[in-house]
Amino acid sequence: MADHAILAGKRVLLVVAGGIAAYKSLDLIRRLRERGATVRAVLTEAGARFVTPLSVQALTEDTVYRDLWSLTDESEMGHIRLSREADLLVVAPATANLLARMAAGMADDLAATVLLATDKPVLVAPAMNVRMWQHAATQANMALLESRGVRRVGPNEGVMACNEYGPGRMAEPMEIVDAIAAIFAEDAHLPLAGRHAVVTSGPTHEPIDPVRYIANRSSGKQGHAIAAALAKLGAAVTLVSGPTRLPDPPGCSVVHIETAREMLAACEAALPADIAVCAAAVADWRVDGPSDRKLKKDGGGPPALALTENPDILATLSRPGERRPALVVGFAAETGDVLAYATAKRARKCCDWIVANDVSPGTGTFGGSDNTVHLIRADGVESWPTMPKDAVAARLAEVVAGYFAGK
Ligand code: PMT
Repeated sequence: MADHAILAGKRVLLVVAGGIAAYKSLDLIRRLRERGATVRAVLTEAGARFVTPLSVQALTEDTVYRDLWSLTDESEMGHIRLSREADLLVVAPATANLLARMAAGMADDLAATVLLATDKPVLVAPAMNVRMWQHAATQANMALLESRGVRRVGPNEGVMACNEYGPGRMAEPMEIVDAIAAIFAEDAHLPLAGRHAVVTSGPTHEPIDPVRYIANRSSGKQGHAIAAALAKLGAAVTLVSGPTRLPDPPGCSVVHIETAREMLAACEAALPADIAVCAAAVADWRVDGPSDRKLKKDGGGPPALALTENPDILATLSRPGERRPALVVGFAAETGDVLAYATAKRARKCCDWIVANDVSPGTGTFGGSDNTVHLIRADGVESWPTMPKDAVAARLAEVVAGYFAGK
């Protein structure tokens, strides 16, 4: 049996679908809350035929979310926030219908939508008639969901409400509690569990007028890969990203910004953090007083753009003080004398480590899939071979984990 102490402070989003086993979910809520977890519930229309919203509300001591189209629910707690503000989504009972909709990626009610929108682990506790469970369609749906990482507890074998015998009974509440605790325990063993990392990625866009901006060629591939790699090692990651074409990496909270000043504000709002990795290509300058109307060719020649310096996010996060992350890692994008310039940058910006890369034309570092980096620390330089940006990220995350293991 997993250690239940691990449930304290965890946030579970419980989806209750329509099945006779829904009554057991009330007990599940009680058992989770007794162990210190917070439970927020989504009740499907069919679920509300088996348990009353009032009972669920009384047991969770929270609003019961039921309707994708509820203006009140959406304004107070959008469905995306609902699924992201949980550590785990549990579907109990998971009916054949809901499993089929999950497998098909449907978003036709609130339950299916939060399950599609989530970036958190999902546990299902199937409950249905034995023939429905054994049907090739349900088995194929379940196999597909499991291949995508959805976890399962049960179903158990026994006499069903319809008097048939076989697998289909929902796992007992305490079995579901054990399965939930086991999922959290897996994460607790990861080397960066309990650490918070802030990662910047991508370019910034600095407006000239409402339609034009100053930008650079960063694709966000390197920064996003670092965010994903840190999350994979158990860190809670806030990724502050400039405009990119990339999907949000799994397991990260992503804050989308456009300008350097917005990036700084988002990073500061994300503190406290143990780790900061600044991989974004932040514009050093912005237009001083961008026009609020589109600049016109009026025959008077091109407009003179006065530039002013942007705040330096890396230098700000590195500043000594209570809120300084224990480990601040910067990047240095150079086009010559890479090691000398990057070493000087580390000292000037007061970060702990700097990852230097050559961004000269022809290297493909900006926008490409591979990178050749040098990790510069106080005690020396490590030059890594050229490798995919994902591999650079994984190696950097391992070095970060090693740093905290040695503390
Ligand atoms: O996004 P990709 O296409 O995958 O490309 C990856 C990358 C080349 C963008 C990345 O590997 C990289 O080098 N990122 C840093 C780019 C950069 O702006 O370097 P810099 O040498 O100008 O800045 C030094 C450091 O200060 C960086 O950590 C940067 O994030 C930070 N900085 C710079 C200016 C500023 N106003 N605020 C900052 O925080």
